[in-house]
Amino acid sequence: MLQATGVTKSFGGLVAVDDVSFEVDDEEMVGLIGPNGAGKTTLFNTITGVHPPSDGSITLDGTELTGRKPFEIAQRGVVRTFQTARTFNESTVLENVEVGAVFGNGDDQDVAEERAHECLEFVGLDDQSDAEVSGLNLADRKLLELARGLATDPNFMLVDEIGSGLTPAELNTLTDTLERTCHERGISVFWIEHIMDAIMGSTDRIIVLNQGQKIADGTPEEVQNNDRVTEAYLGGGDE
Ligand SMILES: Nc1ncnc2c1ncn2[C@@H]1O[C@H](COP(=O)(O)OP(=O)(O)O)[C@@H](O)[C@H]1O
Ligand SMILES: [Mg+2]
Repeated sequence: MLQATGVTKSFGGLVAVDDVSFEVDDEEMVGLIGPNGAGKTTLFNTITGVHPPSDGSITLDGTELTGRKPFEIAQRGVVRTFQTARTFNESTVLENVEVGAVFGNGDDQDVAEERAHECLEFVGLDDQSDAEVSGLNLADRKLLELARGLATDPNFMLVDEIGSGLTPAELNTLTDTLERTCHERGISVFWIEHIMDAIMGSTDRIIVLNQGQKIADGTPEEVQNNDRVTEAYLGGGDE
């Protein structure tokens, strides 16, 4: 289980994440929403060690993550995908996923290849394993990023706005793949998304940030009926 207590991250005078506490349970799928600039990506960065918190504590199964380097946190099974897919476009689909297996899990070549194929099959891309990544469409690139993350054999996956720019059918496939990641593979999924229908329909719980602060934490229904949440969106959190 991931537990964050009083997490704060300031950039100069700006408090991007302000005293935020929450938990994500084992095998739980939790959404993270909030207006632009609310601090969602920054919160992810505090978890992965990219921007360590200025204050507060983040533990995974009781082990303190704060103060550890990003690669150490990754080795503990925390993996993330990016708002803009970061793939190696001159390589094949299979090679991209093998990278995850080798660097994340220390697999040797044969094991890495086998694991990569299994992960590609899981996301529905195995028939394209020899294709060059530059030829993939946006939706398949996002699935590829998921496969690469899965190849590291994580127990906690952070997903940052993976739904943008997809057709409804593509979004369905992606959502379904995230749900299976959580429920079939037993991986906790912490998912930032601004496409409300997608996140409301598949998460167990949703945490809402506004101007760095947590303003709600509950079931999708509870969050949708929360006045502070409605206000935050209507008020426009854009900075
Ligand atoms: N590396 C950084 N340096 C300075 N300010 C930053 C940095 N990253 C984010 N911020 C600021 O922190 C606030 C929260 O940003 P961010 O976490 O990206 O929001 P969100 O992902 O919710 O849209 C914004 O005001 C943003 O400008
Ligand atoms: Mg963001």
